[in-house]
Amino acid sequence: MNVFETVNGRLFMDGVDLAELAAEFGTPLYVMSRSVIDDRIAELKRDFTERYPNARAAYASKAFLCTALCHIVDEAGLSLDVVSGGELFTSIRAKFPAERIEFHGNNKTRAELELAVGYGVGRIIVDAPGELDLIEDVVGSKYGHEQKSGDSLCAPSNDVAYRPRVLFRVNPDVESDTHDHISTGHGNSKFGFSYDSAELFDLIGRAIRSNIVDFEGIHFHVGSQLFTNDSRLAALRRALGILKEVKIRYGYDTPELNIGGGFAIRYTSDDDPRPFGFYLEPVMREVEEYCAAEGLKPPAVVVEPGRSIVGEAGVTLYTVGAIRETRADERKGNGSLRAPDASAQSARKFVAVDGGMTDNIRPALYGAKYEAVVANRADKPATEVVTVVGKCCESGDRLIEGARLQTVAPGDILAVYSTGAYGYSMASNYNKLPLPAVALVENGKARLIVRRQSYEDMLSRDLPL
Ligand SMILES: Cc1ncc(COP(=O)(O)O)c(C=O)c1O
Repeated sequence: MNVFETVNGRLFMDGVDLAELAAEFGTPLYVMSRSVIDDRIAELKRDFTERYPNARAAYASKAFLCTALCHIVDEAGLSLDVVSGGELFTSIRAKFPAERIEFHGNNKTRAELELAVGYGVGRIIVDAPGELDLIEDVVGSKYGHEQKSGDSLCAPSNDVAYRPRVLFRVNPDVESDTHDHISTGHGNSKFGFSYDSAELFDLIGRAIRSNIVDFEGIHFHVGSQLFTNDSRLAALRRALGILKEVKIRYGYDTPELNIGGGFAIRYTSDDDPRPFGFYLEPVMREVEEYCAAEGLKPPAVVVEPGRSIVGEAGVTLYTVGAIRETRADERKGNGSLRAPDASAQSARKFVAVDGGMTDNIRPALYGAKYEAVVANRADKPATEVVTVVGKCCESGDRLIEGARLQTVAPGDILAVYSTGAYGYSMASNYNKLPLPAVALVENGKARLIVRRQSYEDMLSRDLPL
């Protein structure tokens, strides 16, 4: 079955009439397709976790997280990558198995680590100087161990009630072909330890000798929305070099290598993402060949896809409101007339919707591109070129520049495609706009998985003077 179908001019998703859904639940409304999420997870399993004996996948929950999604990920048997106390708390509330939680973050607080340790998360990815000490201290305080001195050689002991497995996030110093804001593996990134630093190897040695944590492995994530594998493979070679060095220095085979997420998705018809296997088959070959050549025990390889699981599963529905056209000679903010270039000559049609940068910050943040359709007139040709804007008091609140749309009028329902990732999870209450609801559609049925924030919800933390 096709996820999207047009019946009598109306756009359906997983058998649900989207304009009708907008009428039922109101707009803006995030709509997530269960079938797309399931298909993406099925592809990940086919291409990776079921294809290779030593492969594991953790869903990167920062892309989209709510209780229902924790349940979907749990049922699918994936692990869950969380990066904050809030994401962790959501997974705890959803009773996500602790053993399958991986706790990330470049600046974890003691309170967050206490929550993680208290719940017994399976893995903690150490990202910053001082973090290993903090973890050992938190585990020690909770479980009554003496805090271990960093330099003393402690014999591994099995008398520990809970030993978090730790990985170290490394900065592989590679450039990725993606927007600067979502490129994370270059030398100036705020994440991780330099791949060849003495600090990294000292910390690994300490973790290997620790009687409080278990050294589990190395992690890197080079960036997001990557169409090619180049930077991932370059980082992989550096990470494999670390495994070799760990073996030489400490005689230890690193159990796990986590290569992050970042697999590209289709936001617009210009995007041509590849299946998981396209990226992961070369990774697995490289790991196998390198380890065979260097006499290393091949590590388990872990991936952390976020947007590639949920991005294309989501659309955002808006109600169209004000529509206005600018004059060709419209003045610029500084009072000077716009330069007489081609764009200045053409009038612009602004189509305003009842959401905007509050429910999708990505266009304003890094020029992300989207496509849309008038959901109640989806069979008509897209004859208009418009700028879809939000209702926030920022002129940068533009959702789509140059959107090709059907004739559009106030009251129409606009569906913006591929908004399942980093929309809801990055949403804000700017201008005191309430957060939208999230509906899950499946086999012709829809239900809310996150209810709309009310004005009362929004003010529930305000205290009087
Ligand atoms: C450490 C880590 N893992 C996984 C991801 C998920 O990336 P994506 O949603 O592009 O797959 C991110 C994204 O920021 C990340 O920082």
